[in-house]
Amino acid sequence: MDRTLIILKPDAVQRGLTGKIISRFEDKGLQVVGMKFMKIPVELAEKHYAPHKGKPFYDGLLKYMTSSPVIVMALQGKGVVDIARKMMGATFGFKAEPGTIRGDYGVSASFNLIHGSDSPESAKTELAIWFKPEELVDYELAARAWVFD
Ligand code: RTP
Ligand code: MG
Repeated sequence: MDRTLIILKPDAVQRGLTGKIISRFEDKGLQVVGMKFMKIPVELAEKHYAPHKGKPFYDGLLKYMTSSPVIVMALQGKGVVDIARKMMGATFGFKAEPGTIRGDYGVSASFNLIHGSDSPESAKTELAIWFKPEELVDYELAARAWVFD
């Protein structure tokens, strides 16, 4: 089964949208296999966003991500990386299609509610940054046979 890393960003927590966003993933049939609530230490944000180091938005991004707590999740399911990215929509809410998470819950051009790994390779790297192996829980989802063919 494939896995991806999702972060419900500070604005999702502050605006009380985390339950709604998690429900969308559950409704879709994706399985939560890891979850933690935390204020991100700067060093961890730097590690996660290392691929963006040097870009004009990098400093602001670190400030945003470390300003207030987040929920970090590991989701599992066949093709979950692409499915979650489609559900999130375009990077910023003012451009994202209605029906997507960013399209339905935001209009900002800097706060965008959610992070999702952009490829199976980055999912692997990012999951290793945020979760120890024993924090990812292997369990059988009762509805699995009805969700995946
Ligand atoms: P994410 O990594 O958070 O899932 O979002 P993404 O793939 O859609 O966007 P990415 O290009 O990877 O950028 C990472 C995050 O940096 C912030 N950003 N700001 N001001 C800007 O032009 C700008 N561009 C990107 C966003 O918070 C974006 O999610
Ligand atoms: Mg990205």
